[in-house]
Amino acid sequence: MPKILILGGTGLLGTALAQSLLRAGNNTVFVQTRAASKRGAIVAAEMTPLVFPLEDKAALRSALDTYNIDTVVDVSQGYQQATSILETVVSVAKDRQAALAREGAIGPKLGFVYTSGIMVHGSPAERVSDLSPVGNKLASDKPATMVSWRPSHEQAVLACRDFLNTVILRPGMLYGRNAWNFGVWWGPVSALKAKGGEKLSISADKSTRVCLVHVDDVASAFRAAIDRLDGRLGDWPVFDVVAETISLESIIEGTTEAVGLKTSVDFIGTGGDVFLEAMGLRANVGSSRIRTVLGWEPRRRDFLLNVGTYYAAWEAAQ
Ligand SMILES: NC(=O)c1ccc[n+]([C@@H]2O[C@H](COP(=O)([O-])OP(=O)(O)OC[C@H]3O[C@@H](n4cnc5c(N)ncnc54)[C@H](OP(=O)(O)O)[C@@H]3O)[C@@H](O)[C@H]2O)c1
Repeated sequence: MPKILILGGTGLLGTALAQSLLRAGNNTVFVQTRAASKRGAIVAAEMTPLVFPLEDKAALRSALDTYNIDTVVDVSQGYQQATSILETVVSVAKDRQAALAREGAIGPKLGFVYTSGIMVHGSPAERVSDLSPVGNKLASDKPATMVSWRPSHEQAVLACRDFLNTVILRPGMLYGRNAWNFGVWWGPVSALKAKGGEKLSISADKSTRVCLVHVDDVASAFRAAIDRLDGRLGDWPVFDVVAETISLESIIEGTTEAVGLKTSVDFIGTGGDVFLEAMGLRANVGSSRIRTVLGWEPRRRDFLLNVGTYYAAWEAAQ
């Protein structure tokens, strides 16, 4: 049974991934969290909780050694800790290889899955893919400011392939369940529904185009990648994970219709806010390689037809 440690495993993506790995029946799942209060829920879900902050290198190292972890998956929001996590994982991987060498033995590399996002492509004028350069002069556009550090971190992860079996997955915007990120657009819809009013103000440009993917489909993409970490991901283990691309205008129109709001909509721009800027890209990403290399197919591709269900799930989770 491969032993998989999920950093940030209590989050939107982490929870879906942990459940998906467990349901597959052939994994032992360890979930890292900063919050001791989440310990009980993790145990109740048949997983092992490991409570430590992501910046605690000694605790991460100890977790990898104590439980002989085979694969580490970073699905955390610990952006500040990304480098220190990678350093620790590589250091453990090197120590394992040295220990094997002392025994004259060969063994598998430690697995490392890093979660990036399609925001590294920015708002390219032309169609891009996971084969397109990001974060340098060769790229079609610059990454969203909030994730401008990410392309170089992706490069740092890829540079460790002598020691790690690694893959980088770049999901589009996640929807489904408590998809917290939809709050920027559905928050104003919910407020207008509750209090009434004439106009819906959305903090984005009207030209915003969103690459969407259901959280369960992202979890299945991660699982497919984890299952193939042992050398079956080809020369370029980087995958954009997108199911469909929809204009924000259609998303808002579909949502207001689904909840029975008759209102005009003002797209008021992002006002220089870096989070809103990241949410308000004009995405233009094709994601066919993950289908051919990993055999992944998203099961949800009808976001607009079911937007009422997703909105209701989001609202109920608030
Ligand atoms: N959501 C999306 O649409 C989307 C799209 C593309 C890429 N991604 C990437 O996927 C990863 C996971 O996203 P997510 O939406 O699942 O995130 P999330 O729900 O916010 O969960 C991430 C988890 O990270 C942990 N964490 C560690 N340090 C943190 C910090 N400084 N601030 C906040 N949380 C921290 C938290 O767990 P504890 O509190 O239990 O420690 C949290 O539950 C991120 O790297 C994100 O950039 C997300």
